[in-house]
Amino acid sequence: MNSKSEAFMTIGAAQGWAEVGQNHPHESAILHVLGEATYTDDIPEAQGTLHAALGLSPKAHARILSINLEPVKAMPGVVAVYTYKDIPGTNDCGPIIHDDPILAEEKVEYVGQPIFIVVAESHDQARHAARKADIQYEELPAILTPEAARDAESFVVPPMRLTRGDAKAAFERSKHILKGKLHVGGQEQFYLEGQISYALPKEAGGMHVYCSTQHPTEMQHVVAHALHIASHAVVIECRRMGGAFGGKESQSALWAACAAVCAAHLKRPVKLRADRDDDMMVTGKRHCFYYEYEMGYDDNGLITAAKVEMVSRAGFSADLSAPVATRAICHFDNTYYLSDVDIRAMAGKTNTQSNTAFRGFGGPQGAIAIEYIVDEIARNLGKDALDVRKTNFYGRNDEEGRNYTQYGQKVVDNVIHELVAQLENDSAYRARREAIQAFNAGSPVLKKGLALTPVKFGIAFNVTHFNQAGALVHIYTDGSVLVNHGGTEMGQGINTKVCQVVAHELGIPLARVRASATDTSKVANTSATAASTGADLNGKAAQDAAATLNRRLREFAAKTYGCEPAAVVFANGVVYAGSTTLSFPDLVQKAYLARVQLWSDGFYATPGLSWDRESMTGNPFGYYAYGASVSEVVVDTLTGEWKLLKVNALYDAGNSLNPAIDVGQVEGAFIQGMGWLTTEELWWNKAGKLMTHAPSTYKIPGVSDCPEDFDVQLFKNRNAFDSIHRSKAVGEPPLLLPFSVFLAIRDAVASVGGYRINPPLRAPATSEAILDAVDAVREQADAM
Ligand code: MTE
Ligand code: MOS
Repeated sequence: MNSKSEAFMTIGAAQGWAEVGQNHPHESAILHVLGEATYTDDIPEAQGTLHAALGLSPKAHARILSINLEPVKAMPGVVAVYTYKDIPGTNDCGPIIHDDPILAEEKVEYVGQPIFIVVAESHDQARHAARKADIQYEELPAILTPEAARDAESFVVPPMRLTRGDAKAAFERSKHILKGKLHVGGQEQFYLEGQISYALPKEAGGMHVYCSTQHPTEMQHVVAHALHIASHAVVIECRRMGGAFGGKESQSALWAACAAVCAAHLKRPVKLRADRDDDMMVTGKRHCFYYEYEMGYDDNGLITAAKVEMVSRAGFSADLSAPVATRAICHFDNTYYLSDVDIRAMAGKTNTQSNTAFRGFGGPQGAIAIEYIVDEIARNLGKDALDVRKTNFYGRNDEEGRNYTQYGQKVVDNVIHELVAQLENDSAYRARREAIQAFNAGSPVLKKGLALTPVKFGIAFNVTHFNQAGALVHIYTDGSVLVNHGGTEMGQGINTKVCQVVAHELGIPLARVRASATDTSKVANTSATAASTGADLNGKAAQDAAATLNRRLREFAAKTYGCEPAAVVFANGVVYAGSTTLSFPDLVQKAYLARVQLWSDGFYATPGLSWDRESMTGNPFGYYAYGASVSEVVVDTLTGEWKLLKVNALYDAGNSLNPAIDVGQVEGAFIQGMGWLTTEELWWNKAGKLMTHAPSTYKIPGVSDCPEDFDVQLFKNRNAFDSIHRSKAVGEPPLLLPFSVFLAIRDAVASVGGYRINPPLRAPATSEAILDAVDAVREQADAM
C-alpha cells in the first residue's frame, strides 16, 4: 500500500479510479487450472464418513407390489438401507408444488426414479449393492411425449393462456396466413461436476450439508422438512459448483435430502455423489417443446396476428415447469411487436425425469418458435429474413405505439435497431448473402447457409418476491475485506463481480477482497442464483453493505483529519482526507481503535416489478438484455454433416462490470445453445428408458465444434434501468444467440429447393434431422 506511484496520484486522478469495468480474471481461475479449487468432493472427509447410492426404478410407470432389500443388505460393506418409510419428516422435495417424493412410495413414475438409499463403507460398494434389490411391479401405461400428454390431458399444472387484442378478428383481416408445427428437443445440463451432497450431523440434532447447489436456502428448507427439524438447525454451504446451468436450482434437493436422512439416522457423515449415468437417469433437463402455430402477415412480412400452442414435456412432477412455461409465454415475442396474440402453454405430465431449469428457463423455447416462423414468412414472400425481422422489431420509442409486450410491459430500453445495424455492417451480412448464393449455385452437394437472429431477454424473476438479496461485508483490522452474499458461484464469475463492486466502493484493489462460501447461516432467506440475476441482485446488496462502511470510514476520516466528509477520496488502497494521505489499512486500524463498526450488512430489492399470475400481465422484468448474431454454415446434403464456419455475435451487457468475463459467458452460452439445437439429442426407448445417459451416446459440443472464426463483441451501452453500475445480466440471454446456427442450417437446406420451400427442420438438427429435411424439400420440389 505504499508504492510510490500511489503516493504521487493526485486526488483528481484518484477520483477516476475504478475496479468495476476492468478485465479481471475469474477469482478462481488459477485455482481451477492448478486443480486446487475445492469442490464438494474435495472437502477432506471427516472420520467415519460413509457413502450412499440410490436404488432406481427400471419401470416408467408401475405399482410397487413388494420390495425385498435383503440381498442389498447382504452385499459387502453395506451399513444400512433406507426407503421412504425411514424419512422422519416430509417425503417431498418439490420446489413449488409438493408432488415430488424424495423416494418413491407405492408407485414409480419414471425409469430412474429413486426408490431406496444404500449406505456403505465405500462409494463403489454402495453402487454395487444398489443393483441387488428384488422389487416386484405391476406395470401401468406410460405417457412419454408432450403430444401424448396433451391428447390425454395429462398436465402437471393447469394450462396457461395469454391473449391480447383480438386474434380471431386479426386473422380474418390478415392478407396471408401460415400454419405449421415444430419439435424442439430438451437438453441435459451436463455440468462437469455432478450432483453431490455431503452431510455431517451436528450436536443437538443439527445438520451441516455441503451441497453443490444454486439454491442453498431451498436446500435448507427441504432438509429441515425431511428431517422434521427447524431451519435454524440446518446449515447449507456451497463454495462453488463445477457448473450448474439451472440443473442445481431445485434438483440438488433430492441429493441433499437423501444424504441428510442417512447422516441423521447413522449419526455419521454421509456423502452422496452421483455417477454420471445415475445423474442423467435421475435428474430433469431442459423441457422439450412441441408447437403448433398460425401466423397472419402482410406483403411486407409485418405480423398481423399470432397464435401458438406449446406443450412441454414436464416429466412426472411439476418442479419448475409452471414458471418455465410462463417464461416461454413471455418470450414468444422475442424482439417483435405482436398486436393481436393468443398464446397457450401446457406442461405435459409424462413418465420421464421431472424437467427443470436450464439456462434461459423457457425463454429460449418461447423465442425459437417465433424465429422459426419469421424465417418462414420471409421465405414465403421471397424476402431476406433480416428485412422481415426489422419490419417487426419493437419501436425505437413509442411514436407508433409498438412498444408494449403481449404481457403489457412497456419496452423503454430498445436498442435492437442500432445493435442489429452494427452487426449487419460489421459482419458484411449482405455481401456474404450474395457470395453464398453464388457458391450454392455452383455447388450441388455442399450448400452454405447464413442467418442473423436477434435476442431480447427479460431480466428478473417473474415472481416478484424472489427479486431480493443480502450481503455481509467485513473489514478486518489489517485492511483486508471478506464478502459473503446470497449468490452461488457456478463458474459464471459472480464472486469476481461482487468482489469488484466491493473493492470499487471501498477504493481498494481487488486483491484485498475475498468472497467466502455461500452459507445459509450467514445471509438468510436467499433466492436461487438464477434468472441471470445473481450479479445484479447480490452486487447491489454488497454495494449497499460496502457503501455503509465507506460512509462510516469517510465520516471518521473527515473528523480525524479536519475536512468535509464529501472531500475524502478512497482510491487504489489510498485515502485522501484534506491534506492527509494515508493507506486504507492505516485508516481502518485507527477507526477500529476509535470503535467504528467495521462490518455491515446490505440488502437489495429490485424496484418497480409486478406480475399478475391470473391475467399474465404486469411488469415482470426490470429491463431487457439484447443481442444478435450472424452464423454461416456449410452442410453436406448427402450425409447431413455440417460445419459452423463463422460467427459474429454482438451482446448488450450494458456498462459491463467485467468485459472479459462477459465475453466468456457469451461464448459459453453460444456454444451451449448450439449444442441444444444441433447435436444434443435425448432419446427414450419405447419402455421409457433414457438411452442417451452418458457422453458415449449424448453429444455435447467439443472444442472442434467451435467455429474457427468466432467474433464476440459487447455492444456499447448503459442500462437505462438503475442496475449495478448500469451493467446488464449476461448469464442466460446469449444462449439464444445460436438460433442463427439452426436457421443458417435451415437456409442451407432451403437452397436445395431453390429457397421456395420451408424445410421442416426439427431441433436438434442432427445429421439425421438435416437429411430428413433435405428429403422433404426434394420431395416437395419434385411435386411442384
Ligand atoms: N456459467 C457457468 N460457467 N456455469 C454455469 O453453471 N449457469 C448459467 C449462467 N452461466 C452457468 C453459467 C445460468 S443457468 C444462470 S441463471 C446464470 O449463469 C447465473 O449466474 P448469474 O445470475 O450470476 O449470472
Ligand atoms: Mo439459470 S436456468 O436461471 O439457473
